[in-house]
Formats: sequence, structure tokens, C-alpha cells
Amino acid sequence: MIGIILLGGTGSRLKPFTNYTNKHLLPIYMLPMFYYPMSFLIEIGVTSFILVINKQDQNIFYEILGNGESLGLNINYRIQERPEGIPSAIFEALKIKKNFDDDIFVSLGDNILISSDTVQYIKSNKFDKNKALNLLFYVSNPSQFGVVDFKKGPLIIEKPKIPPSNYAVTGFYYYPNKFLDKIGKIEPSKRMETEVTDLNNILLKENKMNFYKIKRGSLWTDAGSFNDFQSSSNYMETIFKMQGLLYGCIDEICYRKGLISLDQYKKRINDHYGLTSDIGSYLYSTIED
Ligand code: G1P
Repeated sequence: MIGIILLGGTGSRLKPFTNYTNKHLLPIYMLPMFYYPMSFLIEIGVTSFILVINKQDQNIFYEILGNGESLGLNINYRIQERPEGIPSAIFEALKIKKNFDDDIFVSLGDNILISSDTVQYIKSNKFDKNKALNLLFYVSNPSQFGVVDFKKGPLIIEKPKIPPSNYAVTGFYYYPNKFLDKIGKIEPSKRMETEVTDLNNILLKENKMNFYKIKRGSLWTDAGSFNDFQSSSNYMETIFKMQGLLYGCIDEICYRKGLISLDQYKKRINDHYGLTSDIGSYLYSTIED
């Protein structure tokens, strides 16, 4: 399974900062935003990634992650020329090889998900790899998201004025290889972007998609707007102050999962974070004798 993380776009809701920085590099507490969705994918077992990025950001992402070797990962990049919607960005990633024969787990680069029940579900045999999967989260403000109408269909309604349920479709999508040909066929909507909701509704209609309702006690946010950006940072800070633990640190997760050795972990901390930064000293504190 290949993880595809969408890290392009304009980040218009976070202007003026996104005039000069890519949204996914902005800090959520101590870590760049994109670390969180990436860490979720690593937790479910993904080690091979395609990152879809804007041309002007390629050096920065390469500086942080390189080809993934220092983290025990395999990372490739695809440049997205224009933001044309989620299916178009996924389609761009699939062009990385002629005969793309892997299943994919897609994540939007601004989606934060901390959920051990979801990780366990995906790693268990309850997860049907022959169907697509959408992760759903119960929210108080469904109108801002794609929302599931369980009575009609079910089908997903994008940003409904009157939401049919409180279940938002999160930006985490699994698609088995056999459905990937549908992605390139999605036509642009009125706002001239291809919509992931159109893709998912086609799959739902054909009974090719399952939902998983993320359980209580988990956290999901789309950190792409100021309110959620701020609350996500505050949440991570609160956990850190109460427990001394950081969520979302890809280096720590790769080390704990045995993808890199202790020596590689130390090298990564020294080379990338240094010992005087808060994150560097936190990472050092995670090393057990
Ligand atoms: C996109 C999807 C929406 C989903 C959301 C999750 O919306 O279109 O269905 O609920 O991501 O973050 P966007 O954030 O692009 O407006």
C-alpha cells in the first residue's frame, strides 16, 4: 500500500502566512502540520509515500525528508502544476509509474487524526481491502465538510447548509488499485475543481465503499482554517504539558516501529533538530537505555 499525501494548494484560508509559506509547513505546536497525517499513515503500516507538492516547495520538503532513507521510508515526489482538486492531485501522484499496481491510502496534508481505534481497525482483518474506505468523524460543525446522509443512499453531501448528520468525511481515503481508473475520469465541478465527494459518491452508488466511524476519545481536525489550526496546536500543547508526550512526530514513530536503528535515530535528531531545540531535547528523552 502506498501513502499519498496532498501537500500542494494555495492555503487561502490561512493567508497572509500562506503568501510566503506552504500551509502544511506551518507549526501545529512543535511540529510542521504535515507530520500529523504522515504519522497516521506510518502508524497504519505505510512505509512508501508519494508526496504531491507545489514546485516552489520541493527543496524544503526534500530538506526535511529527502528520499525517506533516514527514516526507514521510501519517499517520492510529484509536482502539482495547479490546484485542480483532490482527485486531480491523486491522479498526478499515480503518474509516478506506468502501471500503477498498488492500493493507495490518501491523506490531505492538513488533516490531523489521533485515533488508536482507527489504527487498530485498519490493521485488523475487519478492514475490507477490496472496497474503498472513508473515515468519518462526529463533529459539531458538519456544514464545513463533506457530510454523510445515511438515509439517502448513503451518499455524501459537500458542505451542506442543512447537514443530514453530524458525520464529517475526513481527509483520509483508502482506494484499492482496481478502482483507481475512476479517479482520472472525474469532471471538474462548478468551481472548476475535481471533487473527492464526486469520486466517493460514484463508489458508494456502486456499493464499492465502506465507512468507518472513528470512535469517541479520538481527535480529528482539518487544520486548514485559523480556528482549527489554533485548537489543534492547543490540544497538542495540553497533551504535552499533561503527559510529556508529543503526538505526530514521524521520527519518533519510525524509531519506535523499528524502521530505523538507535544510531540512525540519534543521527536524525542531531542532523535535523539539533540538541538545543525543544523538539530535539524531547526526541532525545524518548531514547530508552
Ligand atoms: C475536503 C473535502 C471534504 C472533507 C474535507 C476534510 O474539503 O472536500 O469532503 O470533509 O476535505 O478535511 P476542503 O478542506 O478541501 O474544503
